[in-house]
Amino acid sequence: MRSVSLLSALAAVSAVQASPATQLKSRQSSITPITVKGNAFMVGDKRFFVRGVAYQPGGSAANLDPLANSKICLPDIEKFKKLKINVVRVYSTDNSKDHAECMNALAEAGIYVALDVNNPLYSINRKDPGPSYNAAYLQSVFATIDEFGKYDNTMAFFSGNEVIHDEKETTLAARYVKATTRDMRSYMKSRGLRQIPVGYSAADVTDNRMQTAAYFNCGTDDERSDFFAFNDYSWCTSDFKTAGWDIKVKNFTGYGVPIFLSEYGCNLNVRDFGELEALMSDKMTSVYSGGLMYEYSQEDNKYGIVEIAGPKGDQTGARKEMPEFAAYQKALAANPAPTGLAGAVTSSSSSPCPAKDDFWMVQSTLLPALPEGAKAYLKDGAGKGPGLNGAGSQNAGGASTEDAEPGSGTGGNGASPSQSSAAVAGLMGPTDKAPFVISGAVFIFTMIGAALF
Ligand SMILES: *[C@@H]1O[C@H](CO)[C@@H](O)[C@H](O)[C@H]1NC(C)=O
Repeated sequence: MRSVSLLSALAAVSAVQASPATQLKSRQSSITPITVKGNAFMVGDKRFFVRGVAYQPGGSAANLDPLANSKICLPDIEKFKKLKINVVRVYSTDNSKDHAECMNALAEAGIYVALDVNNPLYSINRKDPGPSYNAAYLQSVFATIDEFGKYDNTMAFFSGNEVIHDEKETTLAARYVKATTRDMRSYMKSRGLRQIPVGYSAADVTDNRMQTAAYFNCGTDDERSDFFAFNDYSWCTSDFKTAGWDIKVKNFTGYGVPIFLSEYGCNLNVRDFGELEALMSDKMTSVYSGGLMYEYSQEDNKYGIVEIAGPKGDQTGARKEMPEFAAYQKALAANPAPTGLAGAVTSSSSSPCPAKDDFWMVQSTLLPALPEGAKAYLKDGAGKGPGLNGAGSQNAGGASTEDAEPGSGTGGNGASPSQSSAAVAGLMGPTDKAPFVISGAVFIFTMIGAALF
């Protein structure tokens, strides 16, 4: 999210009125869950392209859950239907509340949800990541998985958003976000839930873009993400080449899991959403699976296409389409998703772990182990979520005390939680776990990194 301010988020939290939890039963929707195959998302045997919006009415300042209040989501779903989008990304949801009404209404409209599992009080602290990767944090993350894992239209979970920044010290937080990714995947497996794809949403930083992508797709199967996404604002009064997207296609060619833009949409120009022409064309579709336009509602940072009347902490007021709404609608209609595989490869592959250098400070390929206090959640479930107004997790104690054996996220039976494991097995081989092979891979990455990406 652009310009996240924790202070203002905290200040606004108390003003948010919790809506009474609806006790509607989760109805059976007929929407087909999204899966991952090779470097593509699939719906059944058809390729799926993300054509959607970032959706957080009130922004990070309000920190309210639009999917727990039908007075918010239902009028917006009417707008989504008018746009004919297929995904919304929601950054803050309340895992103590019921979401049946909004999730089912979205499913009936053919719309999937890509969900961030973090919120201001329950997240990895990029300034001091070790202590914040703890049992209280994971309990909140797992409770979010419990709540949204039951809906067929939950497309994906983001295990983090822009935790790594342009300051090189923030790359040290990568291990904890990757451990969270591993734990989310092993939680779904242990709890017998549908394996909803998990990935990281990166800031678009030149100095660490490629290392970040490689890092989240390297190592043992249990540690690797199901997809990679980044937030890209480089297309300003621009075109494919001027925006540098030609290089971003070239560099990511051969990346072994799906990639999409988890935010896009410069606002320094007259917004015509020209990005869509490139994203849906054969210049990009072999490597990218679409993107999410930032953003639906007009907030202080002025990226919206719909104005919502009333105070920030409410968001049930009248909706007014801005001129950008029609412009985005037009761009979507003019640039339909391609049919067929559109250049996707059907087998997944891992990346070599990036070497430590001046911009990437992560030295070890080992990840912190699941904190002791979180082990019971995998066995017994997470229990009731703390919601958005709990005590917070960052200084809760109960952090991880040791590194994990690579492959530890498999649930102890040696099986891989990855849907793509069969395809990956041949490429990775059992020797990936041996330290000398890892350093070999790092060496190769250093030598031919440019060729690989
Ligand atoms: C593309 O890859 C090259 C070589 O690794 C790197 O120097 C460059 O910064 C990358 N460009 C982008 C836009 O990622």
